[in-house]
Amino acid sequence: MATSIIAVAGSSGLIGSALVYALRATNRRALRIVRRPPSTADEVFWNPDTGEFDADVLRGVDAVVNLCGVNVGQKRWSGAFKQSLRDSRIDPTEVLAEAVVEAGVPVLVNASAVGYYGDTRDRTADESAPPGEGFLAQLCQDWEAATAPAINDGARVVLARTGLVLSPSGGILSRLRPLFSLGLGARLGNGRQYMSWITLEDEVRALLFAIDNDALSGPVNFTGPAPVTNAEFTAALGRAVNRPTPLMVPGFALRTLLGEFADEGLLGGQRAIPAALERAGFQFRHNTIGEALAFATSTVES
Ligand SMILES: NC(=O)c1ccc[n+]([C@@H]2O[C@H](COP(=O)([O-])OP(=O)(O)OC[C@H]3O[C@@H](n4cnc5c(N)ncnc54)[C@H](OP(=O)(O)O)[C@@H]3O)[C@@H](O)[C@H]2O)c1
Repeated sequence: MATSIIAVAGSSGLIGSALVYALRATNRRALRIVRRPPSTADEVFWNPDTGEFDADVLRGVDAVVNLCGVNVGQKRWSGAFKQSLRDSRIDPTEVLAEAVVEAGVPVLVNASAVGYYGDTRDRTADESAPPGEGFLAQLCQDWEAATAPAINDGARVVLARTGLVLSPSGGILSRLRPLFSLGLGARLGNGRQYMSWITLEDEVRALLFAIDNDALSGPVNFTGPAPVTNAEFTAALGRAVNRPTPLMVPGFALRTLLGEFADEGLLGGQRAIPAALERAGFQFRHNTIGEALAFATSTVES
């Protein structure tokens, strides 16, 4: 059988670099779609700001995985930063979806986020749950809608609604772990908001599963099977680094410091469940927050 070729945008990021590594480790060809001059035969150029992309480079590609976008937690949410969160996702996704059509690529796996559901409080959200309210929920809806050219043309499009990715080498834990290790871990607000998490290992395994599995299309929650409240997460991370977590950061302090992101990203949350992945037979390696944090705090020092 010919080696399959998977093209990846956003391949230098936390998820993308782990995905490229996993693709190569499983003897597939990873074609990185890069924003700088290509330096190897396994790289092709695009300019997501201007939409410049030669769709011909995708001829013969078996799937495109789109993981691009400015990091949501990188800065305080000013108007300009929120615009850059949208600009770095919506139009670039449309560019890739149109290229998928032009080049006849059969599969597009496109990143999205559980922020789609807004603040679910303690209601569980499977993929049939309606969109929520707020900037992130609207961003996710518009981001997913940008895949329409590929969906309308009959490609199999997976909308990977991802939760917080827990990794030993970056992402949210690289910020939280040093604080928790100093005994400064704290629940946020009343701690009752849900956090949907997935380990980086399971995220990458689920992406490979989605690339291969014809049964999956449309929205798919990329989240572990047991979301936890912020208070549970805080206690579990404290246990993982052997430190107590008696502290609490009041909501008003987070709002003063972080603006709108505090409410949407930290004080609200989603209790998403991976119904579509489980229906398709995906088996998680990390099923509980304890297992996930043991993985994510043990392998590499952050
Ligand atoms: N990590 C999480 O917890 C999480 C949760 C939910 C959803 N997601 C989504 O999943 C995707 C991948 O997440 P990640 O954690 O791997 O993100 P990341 O580490 O921030 O990487 C995102 C990548 O996007 C590309 N990028 C950066 N700025 C860009 C811009 N202005 N225009 C176009 N591309 C740009 C870069 O790759 P290149 O330099 O290679 O182009 C960057 O490495 C993102 O869209 C993210 O929103 C992540």
